[in-house]
This record gives sequence, C-alpha cells and structure tokens, in this order.
Amino acid sequence: MRQPTMSSVEQSHIQIENALGVCNVRQDTRLLAQETAQAVMKPVTGRALDLGTGSGYVGIFLALRGWQVDAVDVSPRALKQARRNAALNGVQMRIFRSNLFEAVEGCYDIIACNPPMRGNETEWTRLLTSTLRRVEPLANLLLRLIGPVLERKRLAFLVEMASRARQHLHPAGRFLLVISPWEAKALLEQVPGFVLISSRPVEGIPGLQVVTFGLATNVGHAMAEPVSSKSQTLAVPTTIGGSS
Ligand SMILES: C[S@@+](CC[C@H](N)C(=O)[O-])C[C@H]1O[C@@H](n2cnc3c(N)ncnc32)[C@H](O)[C@@H]1O
Repeated sequence: MRQPTMSSVEQSHIQIENALGVCNVRQDTRLLAQETAQAVMKPVTGRALDLGTGSGYVGIFLALRGWQVDAVDVSPRALKQARRNAALNGVQMRIFRSNLFEAVEGCYDIIACNPPMRGNETEWTRLLTSTLRRVEPLANLLLRLIGPVLERKRLAFLVEMASRARQHLHPAGRFLLVISPWEAKALLEQVPGFVLISSRPVEGIPGLQVVTFGLATNVGHAMAEPVSSKSQTLAVPTTIGGSS
C-alpha cells in the first residue's frame, strides 16, 4: 500500500491526496458523505453512485462502510486522483469516466453529488474553481456576491442531472445534492416525482445545504431517521408534479 505523502490530509480516518485542478475535501464534502451513509435504514447498504467524485472522498467513505460504489467524474485528473486515494485507503470501487449518467448503468440505492459551480466546465474553469475552493474566505465572499447569479445559470444542469438520477434510482432510493435552498425548491418544482426528505446546512459555507430527495411513491421507506431532529425541512411544497 502506498504511503501518504506530505500533501495528504487525514480526513476522518480517510487519507486524501489533493491534486491541482481537483476539488479538495471541505465541510460540504464531509457532510455529503455522512448524510449519504445515513440516508437509508441501517444495516442496509447497497449500490451507491458518487457522481462527480473529485478526490474520491464520498465514494471511499461509503466503500469503507460496505457500500458497493461506482465513482464517476468527467475530469481525467479527478479520476486519476480518485484512483490514487482509493488505493491509499485500500478500498475497492469502480471508478470510471462519465459525463453525468452517460456511462452509468442500472439503478442505485443512493446517488450523491456535490455539483460543480457551472454545468459546462472546461479544464481551465475546473482549475480556477478548484483553486478558489481552497481559499475558503474568498470563495465564501464570492458565493455571497454572485451566488444568486451562479445558481440561476446552473439550474438547467441540475434539472438534467435530477431527471436522469430519477431514472437510475431504486424506488426507495435517495438522491443527495449539495445545493442552495433556492435550487432545492426549483428542482422540486421542475422535476416531477421527487419529494424532499431532509436538508442540512453546511457549516461555514453560506447558503449551501445537503439536500436529500426521495421518490414520491416511496416516502418513508428506508429512512434511517425520518427527517432527523438534526435536519431541517425546507419551507417549500414537498411534492410537485407527483408520479403516482
Ligand atoms: C464541487 S466538485 C465535488 C468533488 C467531490 N465530490 C467533493 O465533494 O469534494 C464537482 C466535481 O464534479 C465533476 N463534474 C463536473 N461536471 C461533471 C459532469 N458533467 N459529469 C460528471 N462529473 C462532473 C468535476 O470534475 C468535479 O470533480
């Protein structure tokens, strides 16, 4: 097994090596991993998709807990880093390139994604945003200033992602996203069949929440803690469109 290098960081007993152009692990990543691992009833584990895996943290976190993980990313740099980090932690997971769900097959019990700031990233914008992500005070300031503009620009990307996620989710499955309350509300309005299960604010990152969606016909199935006391429910309608 490879030894951690000077640049690696211990993240809840997970060793992560960071790389230029790949998102580092922050509080949003950690909360997404924790919420995902708890989103279905223990001791159930099953198939999980870590969509936009970046460093591989979420997938590794789940694989260490017995999940059968597929970790995908559109960026070759991210895939390389996720493979290194999976090996560093001695976990088995399938890591492959996919633009959203293009190369993904079958259904999952859990789909988790911490989406990029914009839908149509290039290697350059990925380099820029992943570097910015490492300077948290500046990233938070920008989020406050231009967050509303960015979230409106990426909504179509999120709607496409959520529509496809619905097709790859088992009936009692859960879909988790790191998004703003406005985006959660818009997704509920624009993607029929999803209901809100819970949302939890990401500490230290203004306006971001880990939001858990379920399918309208299966609310209440497979819950670890039915909208736990730690979670908050958004003040929005919980079922829109409704595939019955
Ligand atoms: C904000 S980072 C999150 C990384 C990691 N999941 C985390 O939470 O730290 C977004 C990730 O999504 C990937 N990504 C962006 N567009 C994508 C797409 N169309 N399909 C798959 N992955 C994509 C990026 O390469 C990047 O690794």
